[in-house]
Amino acid sequence: MNIRVSTEQDKQDIFQLHRDTFEKDEAEAVAQLTLDLLEDNTALPLLSLVAEQDGEIIGHILFSSASVEGTDIGQGYILAPLAVQSNHQGRGIGTALIHKGLETLKARHACFVLVLGDPKYYSRVGFTAGHGISPAYELAYPQAWMALELKKDALKNIKGKVQCARSLSPAQFW
Ligand SMILES: CC(C)(COP(=O)(O)OP(=O)(O)OC[C@H]1O[C@@H](n2cnc3c(N)ncnc32)[C@H](O)[C@@H]1OP(=O)(O)O)[C@@H](O)C(=O)NCCC(=O)NCCS
Repeated sequence: MNIRVSTEQDKQDIFQLHRDTFEKDEAEAVAQLTLDLLEDNTALPLLSLVAEQDGEIIGHILFSSASVEGTDIGQGYILAPLAVQSNHQGRGIGTALIHKGLETLKARHACFVLVLGDPKYYSRVGFTAGHGISPAYELAYPQAWMALELKKDALKNIKGKVQCARSLSPAQFW
């Protein structure tokens, strides 16, 4: 399995991967969101990585730009979405995509990464809730809104509302 930055030619495979992998009620919307983010100027800078095996894309992760209103905190990112093809799940590919993403963003001197996801899954790689960045909308399950500092104490004393890409702004994604 190889992890690399995605290209224009991968877009259709990435769309298909998300459509096949997410739950039926959200799959189409997540797949479309992914394509939208890949073409959204307000999502820049972004990082899109694919996991590839035998020429097939079996995993994808996307990080898009995020900042915090009213602060001069440096560049941040939101991790969304992440998917691994069902017949390749449970083999560490999702974790490898996250680690490669975090390592790449750290090398770009990014400050923090946010995610809205399963606390059990994301806490394994260092994300925690209870930080000072508020989500775009009130959440039914606030513990799912987590952050990870890429620079020591980047989020210390930071309070404010997240500012994310236009494509990620609709309430349905929160
Ligand atoms: C969530 C997902 C990306 C994980 O990818 P993966 O390659 O199977 O994950 P890994 O193999 O790296 O990690 C597996 C570990 O995470 C756990 N895990 C996997 N999915 C989980 C979930 N949704 N909630 C909690 N734990 C989960 C497994 O039990 C396993 O734990 P272990 O290492 O202690 O045995 C994959 O299941 C997926 O694509 N799901 C559908 C899309 C989705 O829901 N994405 C959510 C992110 S936006």
